Amino acid sequence: MKVGILGSGGREHAICEIVKNSDKIDKVYCFPGNAGTENVAENVQIELNDFESLKNYILKKNIDLIIVGPEKPLVDGIVDYLEKYKIKVFGPNKIASQLEGSKIFTKQLCQKYSIPTAKFGIFKNKDDSKKFLKKSKFPIVIKADNLASGKGVYICNNESDGEIAIDEIFEGKFGKAENLLIEEFLNGEEMSFFTIHDGNIFKNFGTAQDHKRVLEGDKGKNTGGMGAYSPSRLINNELEEKIINRIIKPTMKGLSDLGTNYKGFLYAGLMIVDNEPYLIEYNVRMGDPECQTILPKLKSDVSKIFLACCDQKLNKIEIQWHDKKSLCVVVCSKGYPDTFLKNVEIKKLDQLILNKNEFLFHAGTIRKNKKVFAVGGRVLNLVNISDDFREAKKNIYKNLKKLNWSEGFYRKDIGYKVIEK
Ligand code: AMP
Ligand code: GLY
Repeated sequence: MKVGILGSGGREHAICEIVKNSDKIDKVYCFPGNAGTENVAENVQIELNDFESLKNYILKKNIDLIIVGPEKPLVDGIVDYLEKYKIKVFGPNKIASQLEGSKIFTKQLCQKYSIPTAKFGIFKNKDDSKKFLKKSKFPIVIKADNLASGKGVYICNNESDGEIAIDEIFEGKFGKAENLLIEEFLNGEEMSFFTIHDGNIFKNFGTAQDHKRVLEGDKGKNTGGMGAYSPSRLINNELEEKIINRIIKPTMKGLSDLGTNYKGFLYAGLMIVDNEPYLIEYNVRMGDPECQTILPKLKSDVSKIFLACCDQKLNKIEIQWHDKKSLCVVVCSKGYPDTFLKNVEIKKLDQLILNKNEFLFHAGTIRKNKKVFAVGGRVLNLVNISDDFREAKKNIYKNLKKLNWSEGFYRKDIGYKVIEK
């Protein structure tokens, strides 16, 4: 069977590697991929917004199954488009992708189905937003409605922070803004909770804790994610039941009332306050770096799971996991998340000899003349699965020392909440 993966980050490299291990798969394509995916897949240089060229290539090569990594093509309707040509695609359709594409869509769904989330208001202009600020308690959270690669969220500690956020959003910093969201600040600990759906039923697909801030101790700017560990220290049976019954199931009911359903990964970004879950946001894909952290723990054949989802047969298979702890550290190019170095060679990559419980997933890399260069902000992901988090962490940092890449940096405290000093 031939499989195609759309995307070029660490998440997509992890999917390529795991899919490649399946005995059902004899060829993997990655669109457009990176220097890591090139080791296991054929990289195809077609942009993800060029739906027509993607479709033509997929049909020409008879690719049996497409897996969509990032949110942008999903929100833009790639699943609906490819399915018109009878191509099998793992991912949600355009309406369901509104769960990530529009924060207001999700908030209104939460309201209608009593899904626990931060209290909120929707505002259509600067004046009304600023008037609301005057009577608000701080901190408060202000969000742009549209996809903003995680950047359209402001935690405001006072009125003047809030005014800056309102001005920036309405002045189009994240694209044309017809409205914004002002939200109560929830004080708790975050958890990423994953489910996998076949349009009919769903199954759990693990939990993780991301480390979004660039500096140790969760300080500094927000990033795409500097590392993660799985499972989250917060998960327990009671909490899991609450998440399923109060958040995931009502969301599926909401989509069904809209005349649609959900196929693909669903990522609930939750705030846990005293063992009570609140939905902060949905993402209609796996997380990055959570995907790299969770997938190596999978015992079952991932391609069978994807196929079962596309054929509405998820009830026919069991998803099995290794009972291990997983930790992932992201290596970034110096300067990230602001302007960072580009086209810098990563020289000692071949000195990393990995055991079978260790994984190296590329993100922003390309290969030129057999050499690997960093071209993105997040560059490499080192993952280790072990019996305990401390062991996993020790092994990763040993490898990072060997790599000794002087143009890059990484957080040295990934997993600090589960690993005592
Ligand atoms: P989002 O893009 O919605 O995930 O928001 C980015 C980050 O902002 C989240 O990961 C949280 O750390 C934080 N955040 C968003 N909404 C809230 C909220 N209502 N209360 C506290 N923190 C929040
Ligand atoms: N780990 C955060 C994200 O994938 O959005």
